[in-house]
Amino acid sequence: MTDYFAEKAAAWDDNPVRVAVARAFHKAVLPLVGPAANRSVLDFGCGTGLLGLLFAEDARSVDLVDTSPAMAKVLRGKIAAQGLANVAVRLGELSELALPESSFDLVVSLNALHHITDIPTVLTQLRRLGSPGGHFVVADLMAEDGSFHGAETVPHNGFDPAALSGQFQAAGFEVLGTCQHHTIRKPDASGALRDYPQFLLHARKL
Ligand SMILES: C[S@@+](CC[C@H](N)C(=O)[O-])C[C@H]1O[C@@H](n2cnc3c(N)ncnc32)[C@H](O)[C@@H]1O
Repeated sequence: MTDYFAEKAAAWDDNPVRVAVARAFHKAVLPLVGPAANRSVLDFGCGTGLLGLLFAEDARSVDLVDTSPAMAKVLRGKIAAQGLANVAVRLGELSELALPESSFDLVVSLNALHHITDIPTVLTQLRRLGSPGGHFVVADLMAEDGSFHGAETVPHNGFDPAALSGQFQAAGFEVLGTCQHHTIRKPDASGALRDYPQFLLHARKL
């Protein structure tokens, strides 16, 4: 399978906009899910771990799931450099990974869902992994005109949070709320600076 991120991985963390959105999302998630004692966390579409590794300090465990070997290589280097013992990189599709059912207290995902063609299937797979009452907090682009990825095409040019909430509900989640949590400012293909608002969706496994 083509690794869409093969050429981007090495310099992924050099972009301060990506670092900032991961920090903003982490900060937004913490008050929603309460104190972190002994929490098991899964980051879906973790990339180089810009988000997931922020949870490692307080969590019992952090499982970092991604399909890109190039992103995983960068991530493994960071884990080794930081000497983190409570994190695990899981490379592959959720359907291929032997992740333990009903075991994650918190599932997070940042800017990964717009790369997923079949959202209902992934939501069902993620729900199976969450503990009863477990938190699911995702952040992604609000619906945009496709300029965010320039000439590249992705399965979704952002999302309408209300429509995505409906997909979460159909997959067996209770949606606790959505909000705008951050705005990514970056140049579009013409070089003009554009604002791309990000939403956050908070759900629990029913
Ligand atoms: C835009 S990047 C975001 C990475 C990271 N969450 C961040 O904010 O820096 C999207 C990530 O989703 C991953 N991804 C795409 N499809 C996936 C799938 N089916 N399962 C797991 N990860 C996937 C990509 O490999 C990539 O690392």
